[in-house]
Amino acid sequence: MLKIAVLVSGGGTNLQAIIDAIDADVITNAEIKVVISNNQNAYALQRAAQHGIEQLCISPKDYPDRAAFNQEFLKRLNSYQVDLVVLAGFLVVIPPEMIAQYRNRIINIHPSLIPSFCGTGYYGLKVHEGVLSRGVKVTGATVHFVDEGTDTGPIILQKAVAVEQDDTPELLQRRVMEQAEWKLLPEAINLIANEKITVVDGKVRIR
Ligand code: GAR
Repeated sequence: MLKIAVLVSGGGTNLQAIIDAIDADVITNAEIKVVISNNQNAYALQRAAQHGIEQLCISPKDYPDRAAFNQEFLKRLNSYQVDLVVLAGFLVVIPPEMIAQYRNRIINIHPSLIPSFCGTGYYGLKVHEGVLSRGVKVTGATVHFVDEGTDTGPIILQKAVAVEQDDTPELLQRRVMEQAEWKLLPEAINLIANEKITVVDGKVRIR
């Protein structure tokens, strides 16, 4: 049974998609051990509570500096002894020591087709604003392993989504979630839980 920690900062619709997929056996051989947020007001924490999943909030604001926060965050995460860390709209930079310790065991969902509209400054609605201002006709979502760069790790799954003529960032965000994110993230977790994924030369192979 793959033990998962889901890290969140906001609404938690991707967390909900994972919870629902486990309930529906779309994800097998996996359980969420803990949901961790950096933001006490994240609705994602309530979603976890409603499903009887352990939740905790650990905020950088409560520590003198980022190094102290990073150290405590890693200590708390390690105490759950999880096999996989899922970043589901988690907006805190992951410290290098955590990436090294959880090499190819941290995955992230990003709301564009990497390498477009990703990297520093591209998160949440800003991604969709960038897509609309450039006028591309196709966007989508990507699930990838997390490495030391921003959105640079090995790509696991991608799905394209059409941009419509009269889209607003909010409309496009919703379509990308519905058509791509809420399917891709559970699918990637299921592949990992069932040992279908290996990383060879920095690239993902799916069996
Ligand atoms: C999602 O669209 C996710 O892809 C994005 O934040 C949103 C969180 O929504 N993540 C990033 O932009 C990471 N760079 P949610 O809290 O409803 O799952």
